[in-house]
Amino acid sequence: MTELHRQQHDHLDRLQQDYARVLAEHRYDGVLLYSGRPARHFGDDQHASFSAYGHFVHWTGQASLAHSWLLVRPGEPPTLYLYAPADFWHLPARLPEEPWVARFRVELRDTPEPPPLPRGRYAVLGEASPAMAQALGAAANPPALVAALDELRVRKSDYEVACLRKANRRALAGHRAARDAFLAGGAELDIQLAYLGAARQRESELPYANIVGVNAHGGVLHYQHYDLEPPGKRHSLLLDGGCRHRGYCADITRTWPGPDAAPEFAPLVEGLTALQQRLIAGLAPGGSFVALQRRLHEGLATLLVEQQLVNASAEAVLESGLTRAFCPHGLGHLLGVQVHDVAGRVDAEGRPLPPPAEHPSLRLTRELEAGMVVTMEPGLYLIPMLLEAHRHRPEVAWRRLEALADHGGIRIEDNVLVTAEGPVNLTSREG
Ligand code: GLY
Ligand code: MN
Ligand code: MN
Repeated sequence: MTELHRQQHDHLDRLQQDYARVLAEHRYDGVLLYSGRPARHFGDDQHASFSAYGHFVHWTGQASLAHSWLLVRPGEPPTLYLYAPADFWHLPARLPEEPWVARFRVELRDTPEPPPLPRGRYAVLGEASPAMAQALGAAANPPALVAALDELRVRKSDYEVACLRKANRRALAGHRAARDAFLAGGAELDIQLAYLGAARQRESELPYANIVGVNAHGGVLHYQHYDLEPPGKRHSLLLDGGCRHRGYCADITRTWPGPDAAPEFAPLVEGLTALQQRLIAGLAPGGSFVALQRRLHEGLATLLVEQQLVNASAEAVLESGLTRAFCPHGLGHLLGVQVHDVAGRVDAEGRPLPPPAEHPSLRLTRELEAGMVVTMEPGLYLIPMLLEAHRHRPEVAWRRLEALADHGGIRIEDNVLVTAEGPVNLTSREG
């Protein structure tokens, strides 16, 4: 048995204990986790790509298993009802030959319908309709139970950290190949294909659609296309690319100046990277991510002044709200079996912790704890729609911004484990 398999056994031990405790606290005899099913296009026989429900993946690591169910009852091995009908059109689902499978009772099924439940008080979690839950005699997604199980995903086990680390390694291989494709003159689609080849992952299995923004497209926060033609000028590439490994997600962004970049661009990339490193150094148990979000904006104000994009004091820039036009998204989020993992905006008791009014997109507002894995992703973009509201400000060096307009933007994103001994950057070579 490998070290990873041993860690996976410990992870399953911990899950079994934690589920037993939570189910007892919420007075359930068990919980049925539904992996889910791919959505079918209306009037068509084709399906959208699919990701299994996070709590199902938390146990099994199987993010592609559809129509399957996991019954968890304290004191006995979980039962995995695996949808694997005899089918000559498709290869039936199979589990890997790995030690963790022996921890489950596995029942092969030829129906996507839920399995019958034993007598008792049960909840069904996942994309379960009220009619389905009623037929099972179970509660569908009771919020208090869901919140308590979400909480179990907040602090990662050693096994989960190992998987996240490996997802990072694979994503970084993709990023290197993508950068090379960009510098070799490739179009956005060529860059994406180079990424997928090096990360060894098909597009439909990525944790999110990679964002491959050449030039001004880098300033579209969730840019969703892949141009087929290479750009005339190559100012910049912003690539936000992930990878899934054994269910766990990497979420990494790099920004590369191109051969036609304005001289102002590379120093901005370096400045933002240095700011990101300082923010990472501030990750500690008991710390506040909301406070780090505020430090991000202080750092952006300083960078804008240093790079002479705004001629004012950093304090005045911060006060004016201008930094929020340059970076309208949050500093980061929890990461795990989902790219935006659950429970970032509630405390450990499930009480809501809404983001501050001035940072509504912030997805992580709870106190930091050892074992959390978070993304750290400051950005600095040239988004005409947002800058327009500041057009009246004479202190803004509009001509310099004009020279940078076709560079889109910069984001630098790493995945970091919070520990009492200091942050561990899973994305860096040492991570
Ligand atoms: N890739 C999505 C995000 O960075 O949150
Ligand atoms: Mn992210
Ligand atoms: Mn990202």
